[in-house]
Amino acid sequence: MSTLISGGTVVTATGTLDADVLIVGEKIAAVLARGEATDAATFAAATAAADAEPEADMLIDASGKYVIPGGIDAHTHMEMPFGGTFSVDTFETGTKAAAHGGTTTIIDFAVQAKGTSLLATLDKWHEKADGNCAIDYGFHMIVSDVNDATLKEMESCIGGGVTSFKMFMAYPGVFYATDGEILLAMQQAQRTGATIMMHAENGIAIDQLVAQALAAGRTDPVNHGLTRPPELEGEATSRAITLAKVAGCPLYIVHLSAAQALAAVAEARDAGQNVFAETCPQYLYLTLDDLARPDFEGAKFIASPPLRTADHGKALWRGLRTNDLAVVSTDHCPFCFKEQKELGRGDFSKVPNGIPGVEHRMDLLHQGVVSGEISLQRWVETCSTTPARMFGLYPRKGVIAPGADADIVIYDPAATQTLSAATHHMNVDYSAYEGMQITGKVAVTLSRGRVVVADGEFRGSPGHGTFLSRGLNQYLI
Ligand code: URP
Ligand code: ZN
Ligand code: ZN
Ligand code: ZN
Repeated sequence: MSTLISGGTVVTATGTLDADVLIVGEKIAAVLARGEATDAATFAAATAAADAEPEADMLIDASGKYVIPGGIDAHTHMEMPFGGTFSVDTFETGTKAAAHGGTTTIIDFAVQAKGTSLLATLDKWHEKADGNCAIDYGFHMIVSDVNDATLKEMESCIGGGVTSFKMFMAYPGVFYATDGEILLAMQQAQRTGATIMMHAENGIAIDQLVAQALAAGRTDPVNHGLTRPPELEGEATSRAITLAKVAGCPLYIVHLSAAQALAAVAEARDAGQNVFAETCPQYLYLTLDDLARPDFEGAKFIASPPLRTADHGKALWRGLRTNDLAVVSTDHCPFCFKEQKELGRGDFSKVPNGIPGVEHRMDLLHQGVVSGEISLQRWVETCSTTPARMFGLYPRKGVIAPGADADIVIYDPAATQTLSAATHHMNVDYSAYEGMQITGKVAVTLSRGRVVVADGEFRGSPGHGTFLSRGLNQYLI
């Protein structure tokens, strides 16, 4: 089976090219610059080289559209246990929604429960995901119980294609690890080449502020933000960077939201340390004002770290331009407003933490292109190419080049859409971006050569997605 995507503008991390893309089977066979290169002889040569028929079986007209490498969302939580409930997207519903939004790979977090082993956790997450995903997927491992057995198992995880491990400086009593435990895991990462991912907020101090707020009767959702000040993200980020420096391992700060944390990352990077960071669309587009919405509406926006004031968002856009923020992921963690966020009415600390977003990352960041915050190439780089390199998927993913998987999105930059829970495909009863006008929309999503979404309709199947055994970080300084 071969497919020719013709007439579009190929956008990669390094530039744009008016070119046609030939797909044979699951792979990209050729990128044919238009003009002299698209004559019949050149096409015949490309198909012959790819061992395909001299005519494509399927033609997709991409005139006036961008042809980009499929998005890679390196931070999702499908079916995640949290606060006595589970995030509501399954691997099936969440990956379908991702495909609608132009994401063709997710990396989800397997969650070690205290007292259990990493390998049993990995088996459990394979059981949830295998055979159910519409697009390709990989796993990171959340380490919440550091001991000799766990540290040893990190090696086996790497053998199983899981090469990155998330730890928490927040959530004492749940996922929290002490500085000593973090150092031990970082030393093991240094020995094995793994990357440590850090949720950097000072959870011990935050718990005191939360207790004080509740004791004073300040129970509304906005207090979630007020009890998690940006300084405590900055402090934890600096501490994580110091621990990683002592251990000598690569460090990736997840869901960075505060200017103070960004400054710490920038300083470490300027000094040549292997420190990287991602931010998420919610920190670019939503603010503390959303957490302060009346009638408990603010609960829709409770995630950790919390939404911040608009000046932090400005700093984050700048960080995306300077590459102190290298990746945009969603931290997609959907809980329904009606039954689940409700658990924290009268006590903000009991609201399950998380914001849905896996479907809209490409659109929201394209909005940054439209408004001039980032370039077209930077959009592709932060949403696809760098996550592929950071998490050991390159050059199979994250690029439009011969030999890469044909994970391709045909994106219409002129289309317009309004984000809404009434039309989104995520299995959650609200949109954090309800009513937001977006310029740009996915026209077609291909996953390994197969059309999985076209004209807003899902054409794939759960089970098409395969598990990605990932290599080590390819983005090291
Ligand atoms: O609030 C959030 N971010 N929920 C998901 C878990 C995490 O810390 O990433
Ligand atoms: Zn986190
Ligand atoms: Zn810098
Ligand atoms: Zn997360």
